[in-house]
Amino acid sequence: MNPTPKKIVCIGAGYVGGPTMAVIADRCPGIEVTVVDLNAARIAAWNSDQLPVYEPGLDAVVRRARGRNLFFMGQAEGAQKLAEADLVFISVNTPTKTEGEGAGKASDLRYVESCSQFIADHARGHTIVVEKSTMPVRAADTIKRILAKNLHGGTFEVLSNPEFLAEGTAIRDLESPDRVLIGGERPEPIEALAAVYRQWVPAERIITTGLWSAELAKLAANAFLAQRVSSINALSALCEVTGAQVDEVARVVGSDSRIGPKFLKASVGFGGSCFKKDILSLVYLCEFHGVPEAAAYWQQVIELNEWQKRRFADQIIRQLGASKGKVAVLGLAFKKDTNDFRESAALHICGQLLAAGLEVTTYDPQVDFTTFCQAAGISQGIQPAQTIQEALAGASAVAVLTEWEEFRCIDLTKMSLVASACIYDGRNILDPGAVRSAGFQLHSIGGRAAD
Ligand code: NAD
Ligand code: UGA
Repeated sequence: MNPTPKKIVCIGAGYVGGPTMAVIADRCPGIEVTVVDLNAARIAAWNSDQLPVYEPGLDAVVRRARGRNLFFMGQAEGAQKLAEADLVFISVNTPTKTEGEGAGKASDLRYVESCSQFIADHARGHTIVVEKSTMPVRAADTIKRILAKNLHGGTFEVLSNPEFLAEGTAIRDLESPDRVLIGGERPEPIEALAAVYRQWVPAERIITTGLWSAELAKLAANAFLAQRVSSINALSALCEVTGAQVDEVARVVGSDSRIGPKFLKASVGFGGSCFKKDILSLVYLCEFHGVPEAAAYWQQVIELNEWQKRRFADQIIRQLGASKGKVAVLGLAFKKDTNDFRESAALHICGQLLAAGLEVTTYDPQVDFTTFCQAAGISQGIQPAQTIQEALAGASAVAVLTEWEEFRCIDLTKMSLVASACIYDGRNILDPGAVRSAGFQLHSIGGRAAD
């Protein structure tokens, strides 16, 4: 019997664990929610006014719940909380493996394994363990095996409750999700977790499935979304050589109610910590389970995306040629409204421009430049600007890589670009007429009116 949980612990205070638990605590004042992380700096930031994650609306949610029924703490204190918890979320990172069996494709479950061990060591009584991280199908077997070695004679149930929030809209997505997915093997623990979500999510949006379907459905959902972006980006290249305009093509395709308009925005390529790693995980699973044709199909979604980023940078390099001018890169985040730059187009494109001997000046309203350069492994030839104006001063090319609102309405007549500068709009957000009348050449993705 699993009554509605009263004490929740979440292991992992990242982009998912932090916001998700903040919303649960906000919407369920009767539940005590503790978020635990081994990264002490991250925990300190969650307990400060400068949260480690930039998300519209997050500050207000955290301010309402923190210290009331939402707590952030390190592992030592967290171990105590684990002993009292009815429900424990695993929300740690599941990156692509870099070594061993499946390196370069399979998900690395070492963080999941170590926190399963942490749970096995400290949980008492009956505990529902919930996969919140994105896992390969059948990962729950690994978790169950580790939990079985627990120290205190406790009993466990494992559920899969993958998260579908998108960065930049995380709070909206969590407060009003399209669906909440709960996969499990027995109705009682599923019902216990559903009772938490029902405190603010309409019951009809809570989908329950078997454990393996839930794990696979999460990978499948990301693969479908990424596949749409790669499909429209593949068409963007054809548009550029035929005179068709990709935004018009997307509007027509997306107005078919069977297809729908979302995720058809052509771009410099998708980024983010998950699309690539989750598709690679799917590719590995297909190969491992003997369906190489399906693996090749999904792999192509990634190949197309890599090509889209490369051909964007190649265009700039070709245009600037031997002049070796300066490129102003606007946007380091992988999309607007986040400070996350994992797998962002900027990471790849800055590297490619620098390798070609070009100078790069970057501007992003949220991404920390030093952290970005460290992650990219670049130190020379690149510098930060504090404003758009400063970034564009003396630039021979401008590359818009993130669709931040403030980039949409740049007044190029007020910028001191070199006279022959070209504007490369990797997000199709600039007004082609305005760029033209300011006297600059515009290269957008997939051709656009006034090109
Ligand atoms: P993240 O890297 O931002 O956060 C993970 C956190 O887990 C880190 O702070 C790390 O220190 C902590 N951690 C790792 N091992 C630990 C351990 N043993 N004990 C305590 N803390 C530990 O990752 P994220 O972006 O929050 O993603 C987490 C999971 O959620 C991934 O599986 C990801 O695929 C999935 N996901 C992410 C998003 C997203 O928008 N970022 C959306 C849906 C699902
Ligand atoms: C994505 C999914 O949308 C979430 O449902 C999922 O939970 C999450 O991955 C995850 O598992 O991590 P996220 O990566 O945060 O969310 O952001 P998206 O809005 O999906 O954008 C991903 C990338 O695709 C961005 O670089 C974005 O700019 C790009 N994109 C998106 C396009 O280029 N065109 C589009 O039409 C849509």
